[in-house]
Order: sequence, then structure tokens, then C-alpha cells
Amino acid sequence: MPNDVPFYQRLIPSPDASVLELGCGTGRVMLPLLPCSGHYHGLDISTAMLDICRRKLADAGIPPSQACVHEADITYFELGRRFDFIIAPFRVLQNLETDAQVDGLLQCVHKHLAPNGTCILNVFMPKRDPEGLRQHWVSAEEHLSWQMPVEGGRIACYDRRARMDADRLILYPELIYRLYEGDAIKEEAILRFVMRCYYPDTFEQLIRDHGFRVVNRWGGYAGEAYGEGPELVIQFTESTE
Ligand SMILES: C[S@@+](CC[C@H](N)C(=O)[O-])C[C@H]1O[C@@H](n2cnc3c(N)ncnc32)[C@H](O)[C@@H]1O
Repeated sequence: MPNDVPFYQRLIPSPDASVLELGCGTGRVMLPLLPCSGHYHGLDISTAMLDICRRKLADAGIPPSQACVHEADITYFELGRRFDFIIAPFRVLQNLETDAQVDGLLQCVHKHLAPNGTCILNVFMPKRDPEGLRQHWVSAEEHLSWQMPVEGGRIACYDRRARMDADRLILYPELIYRLYEGDAIKEEAILRFVMRCYYPDTFEQLIRDHGFRVVNRWGGYAGEAYGEGPELVIQFTESTE
């Protein structure tokens, strides 16, 4: 997980700011941002993630007037209000596979950004150039990400670089969760997802091409320069041109 929470806490414009999080998941970022914001609205497409998030909000005694979450597609939604700060932490933009979805998300940002409001989007910085990715990313091997002991065995998570769309630089990684009893696999679940790749110039251009003005950019959450760190992070606002 990225150490991005203090970064977002610092950038909330005021303690009464309204915040919209696109792809809020289980509330990893939402919960620690609540004390620094006025009203917080989270959207996600996954019922399972939102159930966990709602439970966390209830356990923390957060009233709906302070934070609420909705099941929605972040590429197509209408909340009928605007926000001072819109964020999509942990590379949510990269889960959008098609140009139409990316356009949809950025149009929704236009519709929901308050005057003088800003939005922050983030993607990872690929470790290889496009040609390097095409040649080396796909691999038939599974790599162990983590494992932990459980009664009678262990749970392990492997990642597999299943396939990629080489023209559009879209990766299709898989996370394979296995429950072992001794050496025998008792259960297996595979999580498939999409990671569309952007480079420093293509990411910034995408944002400008959609009628926004870049106000800040970073290469990570520890002060790295844009293009020189593990992440690409851009803060932008409506273009006045
Ligand atoms: C990598 S997780 C990030 C979660 C959270 N922002 C965080 O930083 O912990 C990506 C989240 O985006 C959500 N997501 C992906 N595509 C979506 C879509 N089209 N509409 C709404 N949510 C989406 C997923 O369900 C998932 O919860």
C-alpha cells in the first residue's frame, strides 16, 4: 500500500472542505481524512468493498451528514452537487480500460468540481519504457506476494502477469489467493484486474486535453520530482482558457 494518506491530508484545502473520493474501496483513505474535511462522499462499484467501508464508518460512529458512500460507476454518475477536492487514490484511474471510460471519469470531474476546486489523480510510473514493457511484462510464472499461517495450513497470494494489450499498453495482472492444508490446495480464488499504463508526458497530456490546468505534480508521496519517482501524481483544476 502506498504511504499516501498524509499527502492527501495536507492537501485538503480547509477543515470544512467537501471531498469526493472516486473508487473509495474499503475506506483506507477516507477514514483518516474525515477529521480534516467537512463532508466526505465516496463512490465505488464494488458492493463488497462498500460493505466493509460502511462497517468502518458505523464502528467509528461517523454520521451520514459527515460521510456517505454510494455504489456507482465513477465513469458515469451525477450527484447534483460540487466538491472542493476530488481524489482517486491508489491508481484508480488505471483500472479504466477504455478511452470512453477515461473520458467519462474526466467529464464527471468537470461536472462535480467546485469553482477553485482541485482534483488529484495518480498512476504508477512504469519501470520500463513502452518497448521494454511489451517485451518483458508478460510472464507465465507466478510470484509469491505474501503468505500467512492459518490453522491447519497457510494462505498465500501469488501474482501472475497473465497478458497485456501491447498496442494500448494495458496490463491484465491476476492475484491468486490459495488456501493450503499442508501442501494441498484446499481453495483458490483469482482476482483479475486491469492496469492501463501512462508515462509522465501521456498522463499530463490526457489531463490537459480534457480542459484542465495542472497546478502541481509529484513523482511520489515523499517529495520525488515528477517522472523521477515510483508514482505519477497530478493536481489540476478547471482551465480558464
Ligand atoms: C486499488 S482500489 C483503491 C481503493 C481506495 N481508493 C484506496 O486507495 O485504498 C480501486 C478501487 O476502485 C474501484 N473501481 C474500479 N473501477 C471502478 C468504476 N468504474 N467505478 C467505481 N469504482 C471503481 C474498485 O472497486 C476498487 O475499490
